[in-house]
Amino acid sequence: MIDADAQKTAAGEAAALLVTDGMTLGLGTGSTAAKFVEAVARRAKAENLQLTCVSTSEATEALAQRLGLVTRALDEVDVIDLTVDGADEIGPGLSLIKGGGAALLREKLVWEASLRCVAIADASKSVSVLGAFPLPVEVIAFGHAQTAKRLTAALTEFGIVLSPKLRLKDGIAVRTDSGQVLYDLACQAIPDPKSLAAVIKSVTGVVEHGLFLDLAAEAIVAREDGSVVRRNT
Ligand code: 5RP
Repeated sequence: MIDADAQKTAAGEAAALLVTDGMTLGLGTGSTAAKFVEAVARRAKAENLQLTCVSTSEATEALAQRLGLVTRALDEVDVIDLTVDGADEIGPGLSLIKGGGAALLREKLVWEASLRCVAIADASKSVSVLGAFPLPVEVIAFGHAQTAKRLTAALTEFGIVLSPKLRLKDGIAVRTDSGQVLYDLACQAIPDPKSLAAVIKSVTGVVEHGLFLDLAAEAIVAREDGSVVRRNT
């Protein structure tokens, strides 16, 4: 049996084997994505791989640069060959909840610029229905409490009664790398992620949500016995 941290390492290392010389890579955010970044940096050094990397957060950018990877801004590359990123939940059909690490907007922008996206995770992230993990929603900071009220109303009309919870750290609203705030939605269960995604996006002031639907081509999930499962559904 291996613990969650070792599972993250196993998933990150398995994903690093997908990297080939000359690739432009999208680097995800979070503790699992960091394992991938470390494994890629090791391979790049050992095998002299020429890689160009696009980071999904300031934290990942700092890690990549510290490890000697060549980084570019998203607009400095044309297309990204492969993006590897963590997830908070991996549900049926490779539907995902992301954004626990506050990077969902840049993550989605990088994912959508990518030819192939792979989610990596420890065993705890696989779920049969999304929603136990609170769904993050990035909201424009200006008037965010008003936006949260309208989001609540839109959700109620959709049949979900909950209060969006402003994400705080030390009593202060967390700001994303793009300067916005986050609300977390304790949905409990999301039986119809596509409809919910449309409702959330319809609210003025919402920038993006953490539902990643029809974006991941594959998930690499490590198991407690140390093996790694590759899923494409
Ligand atoms: C950051 C994310 C992360 O990928 C997600 O929160 C998983 O993080 P970790 O690998 O640390 O569990 O979406 O916005």
